[in-house]
Amino acid sequence: MTIPSPEADAPEPPRHIAIIMDGNGRWAKARGLPRVAGHQRGVDALRGVVEAGQEMGIDYLTLYAFSSENWKRPPTEVDDLMGLLRLYLRRELRDLHRNGVRIRFIGEWRRLAPDIVKLIEDAERTTSDNSGLTLVIAVNYGSHREIVEASRQIAVAVSDGSMSLDEIDETTFASHLHTDGIPDPDLVIRTSGEQRLSNFLLWQACYAELVFMDVLWPDFTKSSLEQAIDEYHHRERRYGATRS
Ligand code: IPE
Ligand code: IPE
Ligand code: MG
Repeated sequence: MTIPSPEADAPEPPRHIAIIMDGNGRWAKARGLPRVAGHQRGVDALRGVVEAGQEMGIDYLTLYAFSSENWKRPPTEVDDLMGLLRLYLRRELRDLHRNGVRIRFIGEWRRLAPDIVKLIEDAERTTSDNSGLTLVIAVNYGSHREIVEASRQIAVAVSDGSMSLDEIDETTFASHLHTDGIPDPDLVIRTSGEQRLSNFLLWQACYAELVFMDVLWPDFTKSSLEQAIDEYHHRERRYGATRS
């Protein structure tokens, strides 16, 4: 007789977790440090969460790194954030690739500085055949723009005759979003106590479970992720149906 281990009884982790990494500025302010120090520690937390996601066997991890609205911040802070993105891609690509991570970017990242665009293209190309965790990084991402752009592409296809009106359904529409080929998130986590989506995955998070946590992003650890997953396991996902 085999006695099942506690792990064997543990429910499957969510397939796709998306995180709104918020609170870097407040973390720095509480310590009398410049905001950039919070963003630097935020990258450390990000690294830890990617490792934890791999260990837990999560298939997709999407991280909101820079929104289409974050351009409203002072230019020095925008520069700091872009600098950290550069550094992350330069320093981490080799290890991520070695660990079998597949990297995808969503958002209008092609409008970033040319050297960052090259780093992103290189990261996506290098890791495209990997079969481990898919790490989706949202940069210059905003759902409204993504949905408008999808509508525009569909309108062009209909007007040039390559698509008929009848072909427009949820599946066709989703295939024109940046997340084409990526399953919808099961769990969306936002840190820092704010309870809003800030233009993140508005279409895709249609039936996601939302978990808002008070922890500031730089303090987010593997145990915070486990806590969010535990909360997720206590939810009943009904998708509009009655209780089973
Ligand atoms: C999240 O932290 C990082 C980004 C939005 C890029 P914030 O910089 O928003 O931190 P707070 O919300 O000001 O504390
Ligand atoms: C959302 O955080 C964007 C990212 C985490 C990249 P913000 O700090 O920009 O959101 P708001 O302004 O509080 O809604
Ligand atoms: Mg914020």
